[in-house]
Amino acid sequence: MGLTAGEPDFAPPRVAEDAGVEAIRKGMGRYTAAAGTMELRQAVVEHIRTDIGLEYAPSEIVVTNGAKIGISQALLTLVQKGDEVLVPYPCWTSYPEMVKLAEAAPVMVPCDALQYPDMALLEAARTERTRAILLNTPSNPTGAVYPEQLLRELGEWALQHDIAVISDEIYAALTYEGAQHVSPLKAAPGLRETSIWIGGMSKAYSMTGWRMGFLAAAEPLAKKIAGLQSQLSGSPCAISQHASMVALQKADGPREEMRKVFEKRRRMVVETLQQIDGLDVAMPNGAFYAFPAMGQYLGRTCPDTGIQVNSGDDFIEVLLEADQVACVGGSAFGQADAFRISFAAADDVLIEALKRIRERLAKLV
Ligand SMILES: Cc1ncc(COP(=O)(O)O)c(C=O)c1O
Repeated sequence: MGLTAGEPDFAPPRVAEDAGVEAIRKGMGRYTAAAGTMELRQAVVEHIRTDIGLEYAPSEIVVTNGAKIGISQALLTLVQKGDEVLVPYPCWTSYPEMVKLAEAAPVMVPCDALQYPDMALLEAARTERTRAILLNTPSNPTGAVYPEQLLRELGEWALQHDIAVISDEIYAALTYEGAQHVSPLKAAPGLRETSIWIGGMSKAYSMTGWRMGFLAAAEPLAKKIAGLQSQLSGSPCAISQHASMVALQKADGPREEMRKVFEKRRRMVVETLQQIDGLDVAMPNGAFYAFPAMGQYLGRTCPDTGIQVNSGDDFIEVLLEADQVACVGGSAFGQADAFRISFAAADDVLIEALKRIRERLAKLV
């Protein structure tokens, strides 16, 4: 049973699928402008205005082949060899690697007890070479949704020290039970001139394999990124662009349906985990992951496999070997005592997997 996936288990919205087929049939599968079609960039402008509350022009939008390459292209444009990029963690596995690919140094800074960026630790980690900070709210893997006040403080601090924010908001539409997503660029509007907003279709529209992301930045920066993209990969997939444009315009309904399913699963999964004595798990306010820490189970041994559980990675090895349940060990995100459970899986799979996790923990001695 796989609880590792960072991808929803739903089909894409039907209107997006139909638009993709229509694009193929109408011969739209040709090169587009390197920064994406004007129609999609206009739809992205609308999307960012209504969903995030930020104002951009189509000339400030770059459509990318997924958010992932968008983040890399943002880094390649912003940083140089010798620069440092602050990365609050636990964080998405790819961030430090992307920084290294851009020949800069990732400076890993632990989050606080609520899994929010810690201002005092960020300030302590800042040097003359600090050029950017990578933020991700809602967060993969913790599901933390950063509060507006903290984002304002962090944004103003970044501006004061000439640090660009790369704000990965790929999970922006997936918040639960009243939690409000706030963009750092909304909380500290001055960031608009220096920073980069990242979004995409993979998570909230369940369109992972369509490889559609987009970023927004002030025009000179957006132009540089589009120029880089034109040399790296050229225009993003034209079929996916058309389907994404239609999804952004017409798929609010299916998107909300999927969000509601995640909301229900999140409660079921996290409440079940919280009933397990000695496991340490917070209720995530966004994304679709639970991130329990092993708590009092650290140091115990599994009698069936003989494996001693000194980390979340050890525990996922036990789970896989003894119970055929696959999760991701916390070291991939920088927190070794934890493991990540994706609730982007069907209810019956989640219920059975949780039962096995509970029984396995009870067996550790
Ligand atoms: C935090 C975060 N950012 C970006 C991505 C990548 O998104 P895309 O599929 O658009 O490349 C992921 C996917 O797992 C993610 O978790």
